[in-house]
Amino acid sequence: MSMRGKTIVVGVSGGIAAYKACEAVRLLVQAGATVQVVLTRAAEEFVTPLTLQALSGRPVARRTFDLTEESEIGHIRIADTADALLIAPATANVIAKLATGIADDLLTTVVLATRAPVLVAPAMNVHMWENATVQANVARLRDAGHVVIEPASGALACGYEGAGRLPEPDVLVEEVAVAVTEKTLAGRRVLVTAGPTWEALDPVRHVANRSSGKMGFAVARAARRRGARVTLVTGPTALADLRGVECVHVTSAREMEKAALHHAAAADCVVMAAAVGDYRPLEAARHKIKRGRGDLEIRLTPNPDILAKIGALPGQRVIVGFAAETRDLVANARRKLQAKGVHLMVANDVTAPDAGFDVDTNIVTLIDRSGRVERFEKMSKDEVAGVILDRVRDLRTPRTTVRAAPRRLRRR
Ligand code: CTP
Repeated sequence: MSMRGKTIVVGVSGGIAAYKACEAVRLLVQAGATVQVVLTRAAEEFVTPLTLQALSGRPVARRTFDLTEESEIGHIRIADTADALLIAPATANVIAKLATGIADDLLTTVVLATRAPVLVAPAMNVHMWENATVQANVARLRDAGHVVIEPASGALACGYEGAGRLPEPDVLVEEVAVAVTEKTLAGRRVLVTAGPTWEALDPVRHVANRSSGKMGFAVARAARRRGARVTLVTGPTALADLRGVECVHVTSAREMEKAALHHAAAADCVVMAAAVGDYRPLEAARHKIKRGRGDLEIRLTPNPDILAKIGALPGQRVIVGFAAETRDLVANARRKLQAKGVHLMVANDVTAPDAGFDVDTNIVTLIDRSGRVERFEKMSKDEVAGVILDRVRDLRTPRTTVRAAPRRLRRR
């Protein structure tokens, strides 16, 4: 995910989870963001300014009046340059101050002065989190338009179990990415499929493929960032469900077919990134197949072509397919594009290093109905997802024009 050109202010208040803010800062810097850390006095009891200065590569802002030595008004400069402001962890005390507009330190002053989106990630003891006053304050923050990143549940530093844990740094960073991404797909419904399918052979074995699901998950994440309502139908993967995305878990191709066709009906765009098994065992044995001495023959029968069925559905939607090839990339992808009623094919040579299955990068060629072929260098799967969704945004324009044409004709 790229956050190049974005300035993120990370406000850290005084809770034990402040150590996670260090990792969040590192991830934001890694994503290309300029990170300005603002530490409260209490936060310095948990993490040092030096740690955060080293991780962010910039001096940490600590006191309102330190900044007035500059020619500009420091807290206003921080507030104005922010593309988003993340407060992690946000203590009950900071939340109360934000809810009532108190600005008695640098962090709370910056929050009042900024026009950028404010994300608040509370972290505290479960009883404090459930306290009626804290909950009322959190509700006020939501009413004021701030994004509250709900705390996770689990073992807390205080020894209790329950809600109050600061979400992991990658979750915080993802929410920042959502906040700073232009909403080019606002109001659109996007269906993405991902992962392999497992075709049962017996109760303990299956026929599968090497798909990790990373490409489809990257598309779903990127579509959510761009404001789409996203459904992800995924085969078995090791990946965690995505926040803000409806995740539907399936195992076999036929289960994926059912779920995908159901959700495709209401979708404006379908991105079929799953590696669907083309065949399944004709029969799945009821009991574990026992080891024998001779060869074992398994008869396979074809699975439905889900993408072709989606391509034949009534209604208008942008359909994106993937073509996993080992040779004749463009010719094969073009053939599939036509056969399956697809608008855009994302073709990749799955034998190339750093492309295809189970890696974080991909080398893709985009082929559309007009015959345009666009080859890309190696990119992260997140970047590939961005390129695909840029094309989806462009592809929807002709649809609108086609729909509008008869009305214009009538008026003349
Ligand atoms: N696909 C599908 N249902 C299948 C097989 C594939 O929906 N039973 C979809 C894939 O999700 C992908 C596209 O069709 O978007 C192309 O998949 P690919 O495996 O490259 O091609 P196949 O159609 O399976 O053809 P082949 O295996 O002969 O290359």
